[in-house]
Amino acid sequence: MNLKEVSQKAKELMMPQCRMCPECNGVACRGEVPGMGGKGTGSSFMNNYSELKKITLNMRSIHDVKEPDTSAEFFGVRMPIPVFPAPVTGVAINMGNKMTEREYITGLIEGSRNSGIIPMVGDSAFKSFIEENIAALKEKKVRGIVFIKPWDNSELLSRIELAMESDPIAIGVDIDSCGLDTLKMHGHRVDPKTLEDLKEIKAALKVPFIIKGIMTPCEALLAIQAGADAIVVSNHGGRVLDSTPATCSVLSTIAEVAKGKAVIFVDGGVRSGVDVFKMLALGADGVLIGRPFAQYAIGGGAEGVSLYADKLRSELRGAMLLTGSKDIGSIEESSINY
Ligand SMILES: Cc1cc2nc3c(=O)[nH]c(=O)nc-3n(C[C@H](O)[C@H](O)[C@H](O)COP(=O)(O)O)c2cc1C
Repeated sequence: MNLKEVSQKAKELMMPQCRMCPECNGVACRGEVPGMGGKGTGSSFMNNYSELKKITLNMRSIHDVKEPDTSAEFFGVRMPIPVFPAPVTGVAINMGNKMTEREYITGLIEGSRNSGIIPMVGDSAFKSFIEENIAALKEKKVRGIVFIKPWDNSELLSRIELAMESDPIAIGVDIDSCGLDTLKMHGHRVDPKTLEDLKEIKAALKVPFIIKGIMTPCEALLAIQAGADAIVVSNHGGRVLDSTPATCSVLSTIAEVAKGKAVIFVDGGVRSGVDVFKMLALGADGVLIGRPFAQYAIGGGAEGVSLYADKLRSELRGAMLLTGSKDIGSIEESSINY
């Protein structure tokens, strides 16, 4: 199987909700939430993709870097690339409804394990989805990262207890899901969190706490004040609020205030290893990729996920070699133009 065949299969299984466009840029699916698109005009998703594409790399080939080291460590686990499949949930709601949630997430989890990367799994309007995600992690004996929706704290804390059964590496809350229409459509209410709410979650956790959905330096500082061990600079792939800037456009100012205080993750529009390099140069420690990992898991199961991870590694290595970056920590802002 190659990635082209995986894409073809994904298209068959995901139509009409995903057309597997040559460029996954949010144009064809704009406004399609539920579905794979961005909210409203789709501008937040489209911005993520198009602004990242505008960043260019400064090529250098007079240096002594011959074998760049693409590996990185997170929460005590070394990975071959600083890349995670982002939590993407809801085959029945968003992704064509032609396989079960369990089949999809099992492919994602197995492929991640085979490639040495940590899978992230999510939560949704239907509780059965997080239950399936946690059951699949347990069945495959894979330590992943579980993201829980910002339910009121009593429900959230009970889902944390459930998630802990899978011995997760960390637990996250995608706080920006208070803007997610699919939850409202299914009769669920989720609200913004107060600093006190977040502190209560942190106090209950025995594993690192990740807050996902940070788009300003001020919010990054509040997340750190709440006790976040890591933040994800994210606009939820453009699915929760129309007209937000690209995540790559806000990343460096957030990194300025958060670097060294919390691990900085980012997602939004990342498609290639070169895109990963750009995010690292802007100050991220690690990068999440949403739609492509989900598409390849649906089209090719574990093999599709590993083929994509291999491609990312080869592209990241190429970018590091041609910018003279010997390891992940050596990737510098001066290697890009933005
Ligand atoms: C269909 C779909 C479902 C998603 N489900 C979740 C989820 O359950 N939890 C979560 O934190 N984020 C969820 N996200 C957001 C992703 O984790 C991630 O932030 C986003 O997809 C990144 O943008 P990208 O797809 O352009 O890489 C979802 C995104 C999509 C497209």
